[in-house]
Amino acid sequence: MRQPDDLADVRASYDRVADAYVQTGAGLLGPEPWLRAALAAFAEHVAPLGPVLDVGCGPGTTTAHLAGLGVDVRGVDLSPRMVQHARRLHPGPSFDVASATELQLADASLGGALAWWSLFNLPRDVLAEVVADLARALVPGGQLLLGTHVGDEDVPRTSAYGVDGVRWTTHRWLPEALVAVVVGAGLEPVTELRFPARGTQPPQVLLCAQRPGVTGRV
Ligand SMILES: C[S@@+](CC[C@H](N)C(=O)[O-])C[C@H]1O[C@@H](n2cnc3c(N)ncnc32)[C@H](O)[C@@H]1O
Repeated sequence: MRQPDDLADVRASYDRVADAYVQTGAGLLGPEPWLRAALAAFAEHVAPLGPVLDVGCGPGTTTAHLAGLGVDVRGVDLSPRMVQHARRLHPGPSFDVASATELQLADASLGGALAWWSLFNLPRDVLAEVVADLARALVPGGQLLLGTHVGDEDVPRTSAYGVDGVRWTTHRWLPEALVAVVVGAGLEPVTELRFPARGTQPPQVLLCAQRPGVTGRV
């Protein structure tokens, strides 16, 4: 898989913002009942199918939440500082430093894969390769749950979470373009949740797609 040219910059930038991310409570699920509902439905479906990988887990909030729902889950993240926080905050699940672009997952080894607002820094063609990689790693019936920012712009960022000196690009996705990516990876869309713009935040989408191979209703 092609490694993004800016991967080192993205890693250093998330290392730089990781403390602020945790201190400001970014990504916490308490105020997000619809996100918790989606995670509950995902957990119910994937837990019996096999282990789940939280790709770009940050400080481990969603990893720990899924673990609390009975899912056998581990987290990986590009940023060593994010992983340090995840290990400190959530002693249960295991967390490792890795890029989504270098996971080397065995075929049909996962019941589910979570990409929770973590893949929007990947160039569009690389995101498609990562989704294909995750799709191949799912067992039949296994699900991918992917959340991201909606739009068609590539937004260069120089600050985030109140911290300057950041260097990354946020690639926003139109939901139909994202659906085309998961379908291109051989997955069947299951459901899609849309969230309108809030304050300075663009609209958001949460897409669930499933590897075919089981009969009946998805
Ligand atoms: C907005 S944070 C979301 C973190 C977490 N999913 C959450 O909801 O709290 C984006 C995360 O994606 C990670 N990330 C960015 N690019 C990545 C890549 N190529 N592979 C793995 N993780 C990546 C960052 O290090 C960061 O922790």
